[in-house]
Amino acid sequence: MLLKLGRFLLLLELIALVSGSDPYVYYDWTVSYLTASPLGLKQQVIGIDGRFPGPVLNVTTNWNVVINVKNDLDEPLLLTWNGIQQRKNSWQDGVSGTNCPIPAGWNWTYQFQVKDQIGSFFYFPSLGLQRAAGGFGGIIVNNRDVIPVPFGTPDGDITLFISDWYKKSHKGLRNDLDSGKSLGAPDGIVFNGLGPYQYDKSLVPDGIPYQIINVEPGKTYRLRIHNVGISTSLNFRIQNHNLLLIETEGSYTVQQNYSNMDIHVGQSYSFLVTMDQNASSDYYIVASPRFVNGSSSPKAPGVAILHYSNSQGPASGPLPDPPIELDKSFSMNQARSIRWNVSAGAARPNPQGSFRYGEITVTDVYVIQNRPTELVDGKWRRTLNGISYIAPSTPLNLAQQFKVLGVFKLDFPNRFMNRPSKFDSSVINGTFKGFMEIIFQNNDTSVQSYHLDGYAFFVVGMDYGVWTENSRGTYNKWDGVARSTTQVFPGAWTAILVSLDNAGMWNLRTQNLDSWYLGQEVYVSVVNPENDKDEVQLPENTIYCGVLSVLQKEQAHRVKFSSASSLEKMIKIVVISILGLSGFI
Ligand SMILES: *[C@@H]1O[C@H](CO)[C@@H](O)[C@H](O)[C@H]1NC(C)=O
Ligand SMILES: *[C@@H]1O[C@H](CO)[C@@H](O)[C@H](O)[C@H]1NC(C)=O
Ligand SMILES: *[C@@H]1O[C@H](CO)[C@@H](O)[C@H](O)[C@H]1NC(C)=O
Ligand SMILES: *[C@@H]1O[C@H](CO)[C@@H](O)[C@H](O)[C@H]1NC(C)=O
Ligand SMILES: *[C@@H]1O[C@H](CO)[C@@H](O)[C@H](O)[C@H]1NC(C)=O
Ligand SMILES: *[C@@H]1O[C@H](CO)[C@@H](O)[C@H](O)[C@H]1NC(C)=O
Ligand SMILES: *[C@@H]1O[C@H](CO)[C@@H](O)[C@H](O)[C@H]1NC(C)=O
Ligand SMILES: *[C@@H]1O[C@H](CO)[C@@H](O)[C@H](O)[C@H]1NC(C)=O
Repeated sequence: MLLKLGRFLLLLELIALVSGSDPYVYYDWTVSYLTASPLGLKQQVIGIDGRFPGPVLNVTTNWNVVINVKNDLDEPLLLTWNGIQQRKNSWQDGVSGTNCPIPAGWNWTYQFQVKDQIGSFFYFPSLGLQRAAGGFGGIIVNNRDVIPVPFGTPDGDITLFISDWYKKSHKGLRNDLDSGKSLGAPDGIVFNGLGPYQYDKSLVPDGIPYQIINVEPGKTYRLRIHNVGISTSLNFRIQNHNLLLIETEGSYTVQQNYSNMDIHVGQSYSFLVTMDQNASSDYYIVASPRFVNGSSSPKAPGVAILHYSNSQGPASGPLPDPPIELDKSFSMNQARSIRWNVSAGAARPNPQGSFRYGEITVTDVYVIQNRPTELVDGKWRRTLNGISYIAPSTPLNLAQQFKVLGVFKLDFPNRFMNRPSKFDSSVINGTFKGFMEIIFQNNDTSVQSYHLDGYAFFVVGMDYGVWTENSRGTYNKWDGVARSTTQVFPGAWTAILVSLDNAGMWNLRTQNLDSWYLGQEVYVSVVNPENDKDEVQLPENTIYCGVLSVLQKEQAHRVKFSSASSLEKMIKIVVISILGLSGFI
């Protein structure tokens, strides 16, 4: 629930005027199960504040966001803010390596600043495949008024989530993965958790609610599209309408028209769409699967409806054509055509590394190889450079802060090692203010997308085949776009450059939920060797778990659990004293 925001904002503006400080916005969100019918069948989904998808977090560069999240699920929860950089503040990142999960029945207050950013992002629950059940919502970071924008103010702003969807619950999907099964073909593709529209009676059953986007003729809208799905790359297009690409994950792009765009899992794009048709009918909005074979493809694509206020009838005719599925180069060339508008003024990601990145000396190189699902110690798992990540019960960030030894090792290999794959909690030792080159090599037959928290990185190259040192000759050293999620095509590589100027413990993961769940992630530890007084300190409301759980205080409204016995309390006191004596606290 938005706390009387109108009055509050007025107050904030006054405060901001008086003190010159950045405004605060406050939200109270309850995360709970809801019933919805994404594919016509009632099922349990995860809602935020009673809504599915959740509310859009609409803020402006440098605003402070305070969100008290109440976990009304029956399992632990963390929300992560995909693409929000949490500068010097990985305590708010909401992934298993940075925060203890919020236990069922508890609440926890996130507090962060959207520092030096603009653009379109989204939040989602980061643990245990929960995103497969929803829990996501949009994040809009508007430019401050004083900063010019490289396009006119749109007449409207529309957030759309596209995703593959299963009728099985996230717990059911989890069981499948735990027992070594693959998830199989999704049951459908949905728009904002709805649809598809019945464009073909033989493919789409009756009675499925679908998404309608209402527009006025002649107006121009900003569409913010997020692929929040599980593992399916989607081709997005609108019948008879051009998509003018303007922004991706916080960078203004060179503006170009596309008739369709491949959007991979975890990616976000903004397009301007002008309602320049004569409204003889409604128009189809389509999201169809890419890079999947017949058997692993859902029966129907996702279809929503673009409805002009003066429309003369329902959408008709065949769906607009997808790109030719077998043309391997189409999607790669399209990805390469997305470039950064280097002359657009904007709040920039990574101020230190954000211009002339092609001239900066690389300090660390990681070639990270993804392989198909493989047996690791008798379990079907996914690996990066032969390591299947296991999340320690004590988050890495807390272990680092309290100097608890043995939780993780800074030994993630910088290339694929010819040795048996293993489970481990290996972390990349990032050099503070270093400039890291990461090459993702996809040895699998499906597209994977990779995301780095805490940063935007420059996407400088991608190609089919195996990356070699000579591949550097093909890099875009001038206007590669800065973003936080990039795709890696099957049998291909993608190279990124990132300026490690943000101290913290940062998650590098595949966005494909099944691969992530099966261990395809690693953390990058970036430690500022000097004491930086701007670095955000351990928050007072930190939740403790793992070996540090003895530090945790009871939570007042913690209802579902009985309070600790006096023996437990005694043990607590003893352990706290030991930790205290050994200089941990
Ligand atoms: C976001 O908030 C601004 C005011 O700060 C408002 O002008 C704009 O319409 C809002 N956008 C959306 C999509 O709600
Ligand atoms: C839980 O919510 C209450 C208000 O409902 C708040 O006072 C408290 O600080 C919250 N707890 C945490 C750990 O954020
Ligand atoms: C890039 O940004 C500049 C400055 O806002 C703008 O004038 C120009 O049209 C943009 N160029 C492209 C190709 O989008
Ligand atoms: C994009 O297409 C629209 C027509 O839909 C046209 O008016 C505009 O000039 C095109 N813009 C660019 C940058 O090609
Ligand atoms: C405009 O609408 C009429 C029907 O009202 C239709 O026959 C015609 O094809 C439409 N033209 C375009 C360019 O869509
Ligand atoms: C991590 O890197 C830093 C330099 O950035 C170095 O001083 C330190 O020894 C490294 N730690 C390990 C365990 O390799
Ligand atoms: C699709 O089929 C081809 C040829 O049978 C196979 O090599 C590839 O692994 C399959 N891709 C996926 C994503 O299943
Ligand atoms: C995976 O790696 C092996 C060995 O280098 C290679 O022969 C094979 O073609 C690769 N497969 C893909 C899909 O990249």
